[in-house]
Amino acid sequence: MPLETDVPQLQRRLLEWFDAAKRDLPWRRDRDPYRVWVSEIMLQQTRVTAALPYYERFMARFPSIKALAEAPEADLLAHWAGLGYYYRARNLQRAAQQVSAAGGFPRTHQAILALSGVGDYTAAAIASICFSLPHAVLDGNVYRVLSRLANDPTEISSTAGKRVFGEVAAKLLNPDRPGDHNQALMELGATVCLPRNPQCLLCPLAAFCEARAAGTQDQLPRKRRVPKIVREERTLFWVERGNHLLLWQRPAGSQLMPGFWELPEAEQLDGLSGTSELGSFRHGITFHDYLFRIVTAAPPADTGVAAWVNIGTLDGLPLSTVAKKAVTLVERSVKRGAATL
Ligand code: ADE
Repeated sequence: MPLETDVPQLQRRLLEWFDAAKRDLPWRRDRDPYRVWVSEIMLQQTRVTAALPYYERFMARFPSIKALAEAPEADLLAHWAGLGYYYRARNLQRAAQQVSAAGGFPRTHQAILALSGVGDYTAAAIASICFSLPHAVLDGNVYRVLSRLANDPTEISSTAGKRVFGEVAAKLLNPDRPGDHNQALMELGATVCLPRNPQCLLCPLAAFCEARAAGTQDQLPRKRRVPKIVREERTLFWVERGNHLLLWQRPAGSQLMPGFWELPEAEQLDGLSGTSELGSFRHGITFHDYLFRIVTAAPPADTGVAAWVNIGTLDGLPLSTVAKKAVTLVERSVKRGAATL
């Protein structure tokens, strides 16, 4: 459905609001494409507040494209650990190597899109924010804002939804300040036009919003139904010998988290049986809700694919998030145990 509205006025109201309300974020302090690019990749699956400390640490360790291009893989992954979706870090490095080889950051939408790991969203974000190119971004927040503004129930993840909302986004884009316009829509979605309980009274675009006029804002956007979450219990073995811990490393060709270190399970150490439980924690991965139990076991005669790793060196290793959670839990329980002795 066409959005019948005074577009220049909407653009003005949106930017007035953004100029006054925008959050002070480290990647907004200049338009450096490297800084903006890393932020946009991190923010693809991570909220701004959660990404902030990772971003600061990552930029301190890899302050330039060259530093990232030359980083050892273990160091790269150690600085991404906790953010998940590790292919993003590998793609960032691959693209940094492409940029270094090309002698500079690409300056057209098409050339930015050609970088490893850069899709439509990231290319439009970098092109508009860093180079003021007129490309509209569409992320989850923007889809929500647009579906409400237009009061359009087309499913946002469908092919039709991508086309319909892509057209609305292009129509609304402010060609004078496309980067700020895009960020303003994302910011509005993140802070005001919330999935539940949208703050319409605070919204600078309330007067333009067709969903608000129709009272349908709580029913939008329409989404495909997501699969049910599967619960599963798993046992991780905590096997110590001296100051060494038994871990195994996922092979380089593994689909899931290649190169990362894990605590062994029965699959790696067949025949091992636990002696006592040190604790447990939950961990969600896509459609799984795992309960991981950590159980001590005596060192086996044959360690199979696992290896003894000096506990003092764990900080420098790319440990999976699950392994990190387990280490933290055991450290805490040991400290607690020591305190009560
Ligand atoms: N989410 C992802 N990128 C963003 C940006 N540049 N501004 C606000 N929210 C974002």
